Amino acid sequence: MDFGIKGKVALVTGGSRGLGKHAALSLAGEGVNVAISGRTQETLDKTVGELKDLGVSSVGVVADVSDLPSAETAHKQVVDSLGAVDILVNNAGGGRPSSTVADTSFENYLGTFNLNLFGAFKLMQLVIPNMQAQHWGRVVNITSIYGREYGGNVSYTSAKAALIATTKHAGVTLAKDGVLFNTIAPGSISHEQGSWERFQSDNPPDVVEDFIKNNLPMGKFGWPEPVGDLVAFLASERANLITGACIVVDGGQSYSLI
Ligand SMILES: NC(=O)c1ccc[n+]([C@@H]2O[C@H](COP(=O)([O-])OP(=O)(O)OC[C@H]3O[C@@H](n4cnc5c(N)ncnc54)[C@H](OP(=O)(O)O)[C@@H]3O)[C@@H](O)[C@H]2O)c1
Repeated sequence: MDFGIKGKVALVTGGSRGLGKHAALSLAGEGVNVAISGRTQETLDKTVGELKDLGVSSVGVVADVSDLPSAETAHKQVVDSLGAVDILVNNAGGGRPSSTVADTSFENYLGTFNLNLFGAFKLMQLVIPNMQAQHWGRVVNITSIYGREYGGNVSYTSAKAALIATTKHAGVTLAKDGVLFNTIAPGSISHEQGSWERFQSDNPPDVVEDFIKNNLPMGKFGWPEPVGDLVAFLASERANLITGACIVVDGGQSYSLI
């Protein structure tokens, strides 16, 4: 299958490790020139090397997406070095320790929204004008099964649900402009230096086994490659009827029927 996106320019936030790295690798495998962002230069450099080995141009920009001026500077750096962004993957995100409405500080709640939602919103606003002008663009936002149904802590589930709603709104309102917006909702995906890898090494085997038995129908944690490949497909020419969708990649973990 030809994805028809060779030579396009993508920006993947949090693209140096984990799901974002696999999205970047899948896009580069389709001939897309990929910029990645993250907070750590060394990790960015290592992944940029792997992307260049696939024969595409790549650049790594140091930026914290939860800081709006930093996200804005990163976008400018990408445009200056690779050209206007055709494909935006808002992947950087995550939870902070908290639990219920009663015991979560406002700072925690706001910080989680800064990390998972506001940076993504800002970057969408920065890339949309050019995408509209060229009548072609793709935005893929990484949310969570906990953005679709009850689960996790209050800050994280709320921010991820808002990201799904914002993406759906953009998908519907810009559908006629050739710019497509979708979300991917992963379940528990284990990868090097990720939170589920830490969960497995920090807990006794019986706790890990219980978690798997009670939550993961495949009897094991998820892996990042299917998320990366779905990003590339949604960014492709072949996905040109798909917008405003939220697609689950969770090995059957979530409970929702839709
Ligand atoms: N893994 C899962 O099981 C799972 C499940 C559901 C949803 N998700 C979602 O999928 C996305 C990726 O998850 P992951 O497990 O791959 O995450 P991760 O391991 O925590 O992070 C991976 C990437 O994000 C970068 N990053 C972290 N904080 C950042 C910030 N403030 N600004 C810019 N970059 C930042 C990291 O680089 P630096 O540390 O160098 O900044 C790294 O490149 C997140 O939105 C997460 O909520 C993950």
